Amino acid sequence: MSIENFIRENYVDFKRTDSVKWDGLKDKFGHEDLLPLWVADMDFKAPKEVQEALMKRIEHGVFGYSFAGESYYEAFINWQKKRHGIHVEKEWLRFTTGVVNSFNFLIQALSQEEESVIILAPVYYPFFDAVKNNRRRLVVSNLVESKGHYTIDFEDFEEKIRQNKVKVFLHCSPQNPVGRIWKKEELEKLFNICQKYQVKIISDEIHQDFIQPGKEFVSALSVGNEYLEDIAVLTSSSKSFNLASLLHSHVIIPSEAVRIIYDKHVQTVINNPDSLMGMIATEAAYTSGEQWLDDLIDVIELNFKVMKEKITEELPHVVIAEKEATYLAWVDLSYYIEKSEMVSVIQDKAKLAIDYGEWFDENSSGFIRINLATKTENIEKAVDQLVASIKLK
Ligand SMILES: Cc1ncc(COP(=O)(O)O)c(C=O)c1O
Repeated sequence: MSIENFIRENYVDFKRTDSVKWDGLKDKFGHEDLLPLWVADMDFKAPKEVQEALMKRIEHGVFGYSFAGESYYEAFINWQKKRHGIHVEKEWLRFTTGVVNSFNFLIQALSQEEESVIILAPVYYPFFDAVKNNRRRLVVSNLVESKGHYTIDFEDFEEKIRQNKVKVFLHCSPQNPVGRIWKKEELEKLFNICQKYQVKIISDEIHQDFIQPGKEFVSALSVGNEYLEDIAVLTSSSKSFNLASLLHSHVIIPSEAVRIIYDKHVQTVINNPDSLMGMIATEAAYTSGEQWLDDLIDVIELNFKVMKEKITEELPHVVIAEKEATYLAWVDLSYYIEKSEMVSVIQDKAKLAIDYGEWFDENSSGFIRINLATKTENIEKAVDQLVASIKLK
């Protein structure tokens, strides 16, 4: 489908629907008159097949306790195989009501209070909260940036693990907000270090489906069988098909020993993790949503290109991170805007609601993260407003 047709058929104005992104502006930013390009959900309806599957169940009318049937497992396992070349066995799979919940549960199951958890920053801010809220010690290894390309400082990563006796590595792959797909060699190096110090790995792969055409996503599950005992992978259809409120996600644990620890712990925090509507939507998405997703990725790539071209033409010292994955752009405005001016330039003048860099990392206060999953017109408008406000400052 052409990009224009995709946007025409799927873009929806969902103001006044109690949407966090559109109707939560006053609470989060103190103003309602902002163009919302913040929280990571999309301005697009889920695929028709997903809506139809949900409607069919609504007509059925019974919403009692449910579990995942064989066709669910088949759809999930096929999707992982076909889309990412990942082998998953049914026994490895657990469900939860969201990926953030999942990494909280895993941190609780795999470490004790006061033990250390390491993360690579900048990263999705609930990573910081999960470590701190569970009273674990937060250890941060900073990614190294050069002209918008982010790499890992392996020496620093190892040294921090050694010094802090780290127990868990909470990894984001692909990495939100910097947009990197981690290469197999990079993952191997990370995982070898983790194994050397007996560190368990939680790999949050919620952005796995938003891969730039021509690039290849490498899951923690496909790096090598020798790592499978130490890895838990988290995925969900919620980002890919805009289903976040249906509260359904996957925890994939290949190791039987880790599954036993996880299952025992999870009984103490969640009773019924199987979301009926979440499972129906996910099965339909994985069975029939592939073309929709490919069309959506074309829209996101166009939006990124439009944004990058327009910004760099007008503000050549802005650095936009190479986006290999996700629908998020990570934009360094520090050449033009002081830390103290960020809110006045971005919100008061440009009238934008974005995610501020400092949410993702204390060193990123000159950055913003822009959500590209909207109609191209909104991206053009946002960039025009941003450029004008910086030039007039
Ligand atoms: C890396 C990452 N993990 C998890 C989530 C949220 O997952 P959930 O809504 O399933 O808790 C997001 C949402 O932006 C994310 O970017």
